[in-house]
Amino acid sequence: MSSKAVKATKRKTTIKSRPVKKRPVKVPVSAKRQLYTELVAQLRSLLKGEYDFIANTANFSALVFNALPDVNWAGFYLLHEEELVLGPFQGKPACVRIPLGKGVCGFAAKQCETVIVPNVHEFPGHIVCDTDSNAEIVIPLFDGERVLGVFDVDSPTLKRFDDQDAEGLNEMVTVLVAHEEGLDE
Ligand code: SME
Repeated sequence: MSSKAVKATKRKTTIKSRPVKKRPVKVPVSAKRQLYTELVAQLRSLLKGEYDFIANTANFSALVFNALPDVNWAGFYLLHEEELVLGPFQGKPACVRIPLGKGVCGFAAKQCETVIVPNVHEFPGHIVCDTDSNAEIVIPLFDGERVLGVFDVDSPTLKRFDDQDAEGLNEMVTVLVAHEEGLDE
């Protein structure tokens, strides 16, 4: 073996790969508000003149999934009798049916409230769809008092979601439902 080849081999063995640290993407408070203001405007523009529920919920999921930092799943579960059934989403394939009251989605739908889960591994009965998920936020969709389903967003980062996300996402789903019901004309 030539000395050149020996050197090359030595160099290879001494280089250590550094572990990649996943840091939470911290969006400043004002920037987060601004992001949701822009998302609401983009949503209104996507919905304009279109009343197909599947098309609109599909675009809604794509908008959120691509615009929010640090998100690995975003999509709808729609209530059919006592079950939530998977609707349009972005991310890895997910469980199709969630009984009302089960998991974070079923809990949010049953309680009729937004649920922020800082650490899904500490939520009793959390349903694992994507093992990358560590935090979750679930927003119910209402037609008056009636729950139509939920919008669910997952993140690989613990404590990813806060009250501002809850507020912004609630505003977005309210715009969507009002549009579907023809209340925004
Ligand atoms: N984790 C959810 C299930 C849906 S997935 O996250 C896409 C739950 O516990 O309800």
